[in-house]
Amino acid sequence: MLICLKPLAFIICLIPVAQLAYGYYSDNLTANPIEYITRFTGSWSLIILLASLAVTPLRRLTGWNELIKLRRMIGLFAFFYAALHFSTYMVLDLDFDFAAIAKDIWKRPYITVGFSALVLMIPLAVTSTAGMIRRLGKRWQQVHYLVYPIAMLGVLHFYWLVKADIRRPVQYGSVLALLLGIRLAFRLTPIVKTWRAKGSTPLLPSSAAPRGRKEVGAGTERSA
Ligand code: HEM
Repeated sequence: MLICLKPLAFIICLIPVAQLAYGYYSDNLTANPIEYITRFTGSWSLIILLASLAVTPLRRLTGWNELIKLRRMIGLFAFFYAALHFSTYMVLDLDFDFAAIAKDIWKRPYITVGFSALVLMIPLAVTSTAGMIRRLGKRWQQVHYLVYPIAMLGVLHFYWLVKADIRRPVQYGSVLALLLGIRLAFRLTPIVKTWRAKGSTPLLPSSAAPRGRKEVGAGTERSA
């Protein structure tokens, strides 16, 4: 199944860039093509980043373990669109004016935040090879936890740049909150189950658990 799934996901992730190329060749990128390309690539970077965060919850909810093998590729596509997004801004918008770029990063909070997200994506992209995964061992997972702050920065970047209509950044933020909530629930479920099985109260050490409950548990154990 994965043999089909991976090329399919690859083709789906290429559709936005193909759409952009088609728009360019058919001269159909609106009256302000630079703004259009910047917004288009920024949106797709964030959408694909959220898709990469949805892989683990989907896998756990459906039991479809093969899905996990798509995560790295989807994450790399998010970086690809972020790099296109930044290149559009640097090359087409600011014409390699590095002083103006540095000034924007320093002075405009939404650019500062977008730039931080992009910089944080670099270690994830660099360490996504099989060799790096092997070499880093447990530390690889720690590095890849960066995906959460990156997604938060991406949403904040969008929220800060819109002038009036905050609906779209709020929608992206809600999807992110939902995905993080599902992950938190997965993390907490086994802990709560263990607490319940032990008959102790969460957040209290077993010695501090209410005396009545402890005695009932002890009595039951003895009579069993
Ligand atoms: C150095 C890095 C970045 C720069 C300089 C940058 C710059 C920009 C600019 C100039 C715009 C258009 C603002 C406007 O039209 O008013 C924009 C929009 C946007 N950017 Fe970025 N950005 C960066 C990184 C990122 C990253 C990493 C993401 C995603 C994770 C992202 C997501 C977005 C989104 C979603 C939009 C709005 C698109 C829309 O209006 O539909 N940006 N960015």
